[in-house]
Amino acid sequence: MSDRLATRLTRRYGLALPVVLAPMALAAGGALAGACARGGALGLVGGGYGDLDWTRREYTLARQLAGSGALGCGFITWKLDQDASALDWLLDQPADQLPRAVMLSFGDPRPYAARIARAGIDLICQVQRLQQLPQAIEAGATVVVAQGAEAGGHGMNALNGRATLSFVPEVADWLATHAPDTLLLAAGGIADGRTLAAALMLGADGALVGSRLWATRESLAAEGAKRQATQTNGDGTARSGIFDILRRKNWPAPYDFRAIRNDLHRRLELQLDSLRAHPEAARAEYEAAVAAGDYSAAHATVGEAVGLINDCPPAQAVLQRMADQARVRLS
Ligand SMILES: Cc1cc2nc3c(=O)[nH]c(=O)nc-3n(C[C@H](O)[C@H](O)[C@H](O)COP(=O)(O)O)c2cc1C
Repeated sequence: MSDRLATRLTRRYGLALPVVLAPMALAAGGALAGACARGGALGLVGGGYGDLDWTRREYTLARQLAGSGALGCGFITWKLDQDASALDWLLDQPADQLPRAVMLSFGDPRPYAARIARAGIDLICQVQRLQQLPQAIEAGATVVVAQGAEAGGHGMNALNGRATLSFVPEVADWLATHAPDTLLLAAGGIADGRTLAAALMLGADGALVGSRLWATRESLAAEGAKRQATQTNGDGTARSGIFDILRRKNWPAPYDFRAIRNDLHRRLELQLDSLRAHPEAARAEYEAAVAAGDYSAAHATVGEAVGLINDCPPAQAVLQRMADQARVRLS
């Protein structure tokens, strides 16, 4: 009997299951990307804000750990517009050390597309709204990621964001008409075999998984943040710009950020205007909490899938569980 988890994605990258590790800034380092690649997923290093030293170190580590598994790297596109040195370094690697794919999210991918294509590397574009699709296709994306607002980390805010359940099949229909060779990944809320099976049912070729793989042994997330996540259910996250203000991250509108809605977040929700005007005191409180590992004020970046996360095992165990459960559901 054919494998129910075999898709265009697994065939293209030689994967054991249709899962891609999300390129989570500062969490998806070499250890996690390498473990995911070894475990049969496509492991994307979280190049995030484009720090050259970090990307060089973590991508090199991932290569050492990945065996023959498939690797790539992701970047935040609007940050590349300011400094693309980490992407340049990656694309300048010798042919046998190049990534299989580069993922770009949150901005216009077209200025970078030609160089990525010339290096023979697939482009993965993450989108949050239908209107962003023509740009991704024009950039020559091999894979489009449809990210729902359930996702952990950055995404579209409440006015503009879409829910995974209706967004993914709508994107699948659009691609079927306009770009049938483009692969589709679902992102946002996919954390076990049920949700992976659902993503395939919705017409995706696989899933981009962030939060569930963030809560693993190899993830670079702080242990206190992971512990808080295992004790938080899916009601316990929120989207807002609060942690971006506290971290001095100048994200362009209309993006905001989903994380655990901790005590400091709840307090600042009631005074957003004054936080924007006078962030200094809240920043000092936040920075002290980060230094102390106090997650009643420091942030833990997970999405609504946190309600499906009860432990922090090795990444390979998470992938195996997802594959086993999805196969049972799909049969
Ligand atoms: C800790 C964390 C950091 C993230 N950082 C990035 C990033 O740097 N670039 C990016 O494209 N997406 C980033 N994302 C979003 C993911 O690409 C993905 O859309 C999301 O994790 C999927 O939803 P899920 O968290 O429910 O699995 C991040 C997500 C998390 C949880």
